[in-house]
Amino acid sequence: MKILTSPADLQAQAAAWKKAGETIILVPTMGYLHEGHLSLIRLARRNGDRVVVSIFVNPTQFGPTEDLDKYPRDFQRDAELCRQEGVDALFHPSPGEMYAPDFSCWVQEESLSQTLCGAFRPIHFRGVCTVCLKLFHLSLADGAVFGKKDAQQLLVIQRMVRDLNVPIRIIPAPLVREEDGLARSSRNKYLSAQERVRALALSRGLFRAQEAFQAGERRPEALTGLVRQELEAVQAEKIDYVELMDRDTLRPAGSAAGHTLLAVAAYIGKTRLIDNVFLDDTPACP
Ligand code: PAJ
Repeated sequence: MKILTSPADLQAQAAAWKKAGETIILVPTMGYLHEGHLSLIRLARRNGDRVVVSIFVNPTQFGPTEDLDKYPRDFQRDAELCRQEGVDALFHPSPGEMYAPDFSCWVQEESLSQTLCGAFRPIHFRGVCTVCLKLFHLSLADGAVFGKKDAQQLLVIQRMVRDLNVPIRIIPAPLVREEDGLARSSRNKYLSAQERVRALALSRGLFRAQEAFQAGERRPEALTGLVRQELEAVQAEKIDYVELMDRDTLRPAGSAAGHTLLAVAAYIGKTRLIDNVFLDDTPACP
């Protein structure tokens, strides 16, 4: 496995693979890898000849009061996991290599990124879109894998690729959970043992809503109410949102008929957690 830190080296390696007729799949991450990330890497493996994983805690997607400095990092462990998964290249640049001191070009998605997390993290998706477009250009990837854990991020990236004609295929990957239901996340490391138990309220609420949906419930407030009940039962420190959104617009859905996303963001202790379920009326929906 090659470990590359310079953007120019990644682009040169990618160009060599392309010249040899090989396809490249990128898995962008911020590291501190867990089973969720590894499932993306395995999906990438099945979709192309070469797999590039990027590990970059992207400063431009963190707000001034967010956890950029304390975001968990363990590069040696991450590199070992990538090696075991047969990753071809691990890209691990420094912030200075990705952003010139006078960096001044941004990608701003202006619709889907306004609600849910975007309403609470105003510069977040601008940073995500910008760094992902840079990573697409550097890796010359034919495809890139994004997890449904960050459903809004996946939809925003799909929109960017469509609107800016980026020649890349976005490959969605299923959300991976712990056995007890907690969505896997690098930020779970912040949780104390007690908080870890309380954090189960997010997935428990979503599963209850999913069951109600399967039993025929379509009213948004009834579905979101079930999630709120669970969060209130564990006295979540703060609920940023519990929303049923139309999946195409990420605006509030009038009903859960059709394709919707039930999404939650809440604080357990000082840790902000997100989770979601996709609710589908028609089984054929991807
Ligand atoms: P990060 O949080 O490290 O996540 C990297 C990728 O792993 C994302 O596509 C995310 O959706 C996916 N992922 C995380 N937890 C998952 C889980 N439990 N199940 C399935 N997929 C999961 O998302 C980012 O980094 C950054 O915003 C990034 C896209 C790298 C841009 O900086």
